[in-house]
Amino acid sequence: MKHQPVEGFSKLSKEGKIEWLVNEYLNGDEKAIQTLKQYWNDDADLQKLHDEFSENTISNFYMPFGLAPNFLINDELYTIPMAVEESSVVAAASKAAKFWLDRGGFKTTVISTTKLGHVHFMYEGDVEKLRNAFEATIKAKLIEETNDITKNMRARNGGILNLELIDKTADLENYFQIKGSFETVDSMGANFINSCLEQFAKTLKNEIDADATFSTEEKDSLQIVMCILSNFTPDCIVRAEVSCPVEQLAEGNVSAEEFVEKFSRAVRIAEIEPYRATTHNKGIMNGIDSVVIATGNDFRAVEACAHSYAAKDGQYSSLTHCEVKDGIFRFWIDLPTALGTIGGLTSLHPIVKLALGILGKPSAGELMGIVAVAGLAQNFAALRSLVTTGIQKGHMKMHLMNILNQLEATEDEKKYFVNFFKDKTVTHHFVIEEFCKLRGVKSVEEIKKD
Ligand code: MEV
Repeated sequence: MKHQPVEGFSKLSKEGKIEWLVNEYLNGDEKAIQTLKQYWNDDADLQKLHDEFSENTISNFYMPFGLAPNFLINDELYTIPMAVEESSVVAAASKAAKFWLDRGGFKTTVISTTKLGHVHFMYEGDVEKLRNAFEATIKAKLIEETNDITKNMRARNGGILNLELIDKTADLENYFQIKGSFETVDSMGANFINSCLEQFAKTLKNEIDADATFSTEEKDSLQIVMCILSNFTPDCIVRAEVSCPVEQLAEGNVSAEEFVEKFSRAVRIAEIEPYRATTHNKGIMNGIDSVVIATGNDFRAVEACAHSYAAKDGQYSSLTHCEVKDGIFRFWIDLPTALGTIGGLTSLHPIVKLALGILGKPSAGELMGIVAVAGLAQNFAALRSLVTTGIQKGHMKMHLMNILNQLEATEDEKKYFVNFFKDKTVTHHFVIEEFCKLRGVKSVEEIKKD
């Protein structure tokens, strides 16, 4: 069936939006209405709060909220809240936390916290004149005319750190930037940076227009293209690391030396092979995104930044690295990430507030460290499995519950299968076969017919 465009959709009530959806896209399926409404919260105020986070909301989308305890970070014990739907992620994080708990834990260092934004503009004229005017008067004016915007941030020891005129004409004809560097302290700072940039653009245009040394043609040629922060923040970096004597790394029947060799090789492969680096980093982001989402931060920004940083040297590479020096194994991640612990969802979303509470109301720098630790732990757990037992053993054990839920297994059946697969390899086929045996049927279709 071909669908028709809809007018004024955002003005419909929630019920109206659902009714339209069900009639237009779901063949009038009454069950769909029930499904959507069963996720509405009974507490009308709480529901309203969530509805107002976004637009055209018709229901809530649940995501498991789990805990990974026993993280020793800078000699303090943390329980890390994680919002993630993929089975094994929280279990892997917890396992890695436990492993490093006995080996000195994780250490984090905030290396820098500078965020960036640009006014992208075009200019056809004397570049030296523009450069001189920028340094002599415009720069000071940009600071002065954003004083109202930066007042609160300055009171918190943040604000504008630096302003540069960048000539990009070698890459694109007539293209220039004002590159702003900012310190946004405990807020992610997107609104702050973008507000400053939009004011910079106005000031720049006004200053050039009022400057008699620029010709009319030069004035007219100055066109603001856009003002926007950059999600690439290579100067907003935290390092998380673990280290211990090599001999503490024996793994089952694999000796410590063999484990370290296999592990280091796996990291090296991710460093030089983009196909592997992508999966390697995806595993890291399993940990990072889970904490970023649980703490109400923008995981798309964190993802975008992590991947451009992974490609900063011209080829996509691993975000983690390891070395062995003087008998000490060291494994680390340098993570560029712009996070906030004030502003945005952090003071609005009840679970986000709770998550930040669980973490001891961290500063943005502390949260950067915790997030990097979650990524490093996740990568350690994944590589540890990959180079020893293989990933599927643990993965499929966790996935067992998803398969059983798909089969609508009873609680007793779930218990039975968890026990049954304790010493066996879970495969989808094997679970189905055993499930049918237990139910005394030939196929799953037979169960569905009942
Ligand atoms: C799965 O979500 C993540 C892994 O593929 C990561 C990796 O291979 O390192 C297990």
